Amino acid sequence: MGATKVEPSRTQSGVFVFTISAVSALAGLLFGYDTGVISGAILFVQEDFHLATFQEEVVVSAVLLGCLAGAAFSGRLADRFGRRSVLIQVACLFILGALGTALATDRVWLSVGRVIVGIAIGIASYTAPLYISEISPARVRGKLVSLNQLMITIGILVSYLVDYGLAASRGWRWMFGLAAIPALVLLLGLAFVPESPRWYVKQLMHERAREVLSKIRKPFEVDPELAEIEASFTQQQGSWQELLSPSLRPALVIGIGLAIFQQFTGINTVIYYAPTIFQLAGLQSHSAAILATAGVGVVNVLLTVVALELLDRAGRRPLLLFGLVGMILSLALLGFGFLTQNPTPVLAWVSVICVMAYVACFAISLGPIFWLMISEIYPLKIRSLAMSVAAAANWGSNLLVALTFLSLLRALGGPRTFWLYALIGVAAWIFVLRLVPETKGKTLEQIEAGWRSQREDLRHPSF
Ligand code: BGC
Repeated sequence: MGATKVEPSRTQSGVFVFTISAVSALAGLLFGYDTGVISGAILFVQEDFHLATFQEEVVVSAVLLGCLAGAAFSGRLADRFGRRSVLIQVACLFILGALGTALATDRVWLSVGRVIVGIAIGIASYTAPLYISEISPARVRGKLVSLNQLMITIGILVSYLVDYGLAASRGWRWMFGLAAIPALVLLLGLAFVPESPRWYVKQLMHERAREVLSKIRKPFEVDPELAEIEASFTQQQGSWQELLSPSLRPALVIGIGLAIFQQFTGINTVIYYAPTIFQLAGLQSHSAAILATAGVGVVNVLLTVVALELLDRAGRRPLLLFGLVGMILSLALLGFGFLTQNPTPVLAWVSVICVMAYVACFAISLGPIFWLMISEIYPLKIRSLAMSVAAAANWGSNLLVALTFLSLLRALGGPRTFWLYALIGVAAWIFVLRLVPETKGKTLEQIEAGWRSQREDLRHPSF
């Protein structure tokens, strides 16, 4: 029994790191909720504000435009003001956006409110993983950073349920406004969250860094980790030139590549248009389509929980490669399901199973691993800037897919549209195989050193 004795400091620091990661991951909950909520709300907004088709498209895509702008123009904020301060400002923006949209009296007001919500999501989408990555011990970093992705999937599921629950009362204002609650919890929670020790080192505030490290690490780990961060940090300001320099170009290519592949393999055609896909596949009744959509949300959450357990054991690369194969096969099969003009009920359910399998494979691979990887592969001095570039590429691609999906369906038909996404999946698989490094178990500083010692070609390094 003596072997079960637990070292108290380990338990305390472990619980504390987990708690502050979970608080920061509330930003992910807002990301998921606020991107998912529009699907149900738009039906009533459209009627109340008498929106024409184009105006409806503006209201729907306003949030993604905001996300793109938020991610693209905020790259230096987390470097200048600190990761925690940016999250605090973002929480305020989420509250403002939630209340603003809930009280909107016309479509312009509503669209501006949704752009504000989008800006908050765009900044939070990479700042939360950035912060969590910098406070996590290397051995559990995959799990802790991906708490953010878990919260995204929970947020999406909750938004489906809230939309469903409030549909009878046409409560679109509540649908938007309820987001103020998790935003307020995030704001209050951040009062107890310390700033990132790595940011303190970057600001040359070494004593502060030590103070924080002593709360989030076992006592004997503090000095070695501080020394490692200090040794790897060079004081020049991170700049665009730096980001584009030959030694970091591979990391930039990997971040932008994974960003584009995460979206161009079609995940949000399912997340945003699941009922449309299910009805096209032959699920006649409204309630069956809604049930199947809720099923998608549940599968997404459950498999993300599985991913959390696997990321630090199996590693990022095997999961990416394995998950992508599953995504490619289920997309290809889904395409075949659309070949017939008169789908039978059995065929319709086969399509539903393909969609579920596709989401399950995304949830253990590209879903969490894109956001995780971009929080790991960049050096401290340009981490925030580089992550903002990768996140902007992700939101830009997301917008493009959302705007083109229905036209693609019309122009190419169901089978070819999904086969196109499957083909992009094949390209993603080759990309991962050739370029993406394994980061499991490495400290951020070891990963940084890995780039420096690389040859300047684009082969994936073995850190
Ligand atoms: C993606 C989102 C997607 C979500 C689905 C995230 O990683 O960035 O675009 O809606 O996963 O779970």
